[in-house]
Amino acid sequence: VRLARTLAEARREVGRLRGGGARVGFVPTMGALHAGHESLVERARRLGAVPVLSVFVNSLQFGPGEDFESYPRDLERDATFARRWGVALLFAPEAAELVPSGSRIGVDPGPLGERLEGRMRPGHFRGVLTIVAKLLNVLRPELAVFGQKDLQQAVLVKAMVRELNFEVEVEVAPTVREPDGLALSSRNAYLSGTERAQAPVLYRALQAGERAILSGERDPRRVREEMLRVLVEAPAVAPDYVAVLDGQDLSEVEVILGPTALALAARLGPTRLIDNVLVNPEEGGG
Ligand code: PAF
Repeated sequence: VRLARTLAEARREVGRLRGGGARVGFVPTMGALHAGHESLVERARRLGAVPVLSVFVNSLQFGPGEDFESYPRDLERDATFARRWGVALLFAPEAAELVPSGSRIGVDPGPLGERLEGRMRPGHFRGVLTIVAKLLNVLRPELAVFGQKDLQQAVLVKAMVRELNFEVEVEVAPTVREPDGLALSSRNAYLSGTERAQAPVLYRALQAGERAILSGERDPRRVREEMLRVLVEAPAVAPDYVAVLDGQDLSEVEVILGPTALALAARLGPTRLIDNVLVNPEEGGG
């Protein structure tokens, strides 16, 4: 794996890959790499692209009191994984170059940026979209792969690409889970023993909602109640929100008619975890 620390190096390396005929498949990350990221790299490769991975802990998307300072950073470890996964280029820019102090311009995520995660984390999606836009401008990939685990992020990135006319195909890859259902996340490392033991309740709650829809429930309030009923079984888990949403644009629904996203966020001690599933009601008997 080649390492680029400056924007100029990254542009040169990507130019070299493209010169050799490659389609560039970009996987943006904040490092602390795990099997979830590996699946994004794999997805890029399966779609015929040469994987390029960025590691950048983006201060713009963290709010005051969030874990920006303590977010795990270990570039050597990340580089070892990138090498093992066959990543062609690891781009780890310096904050001073990618986000020079005094930067004022950012991408406005619109109303969806204020809901769900955006309501709990004001300014988060402006920070995400701004950095993703910058990274896309530097690397100009043909393909960019995001994880479904951050569903609202993926929906907003797609909207940005469409509305700001970026020339990149956006792919959303399924969530990778531990055997007990917990979605892989760099933040799982923060969980205490008790919290880790109770964390799979998030996925169990989503599955309960999914079962309700597949057995014919079409009232989003009832589906939400089913999910909450399961969540409250775990005393270490404090729900932030539990939502039943349109699977395409994450708007609220009155009646479940088509593809639906079940999304939730919860706090386990100081750690906030999010998860979601997409459900197609037509696959059920109801
Ligand atoms: O999903 C993430 O890790 C981040 O939000 C991203 C897309 C790398 C932007 O900083």
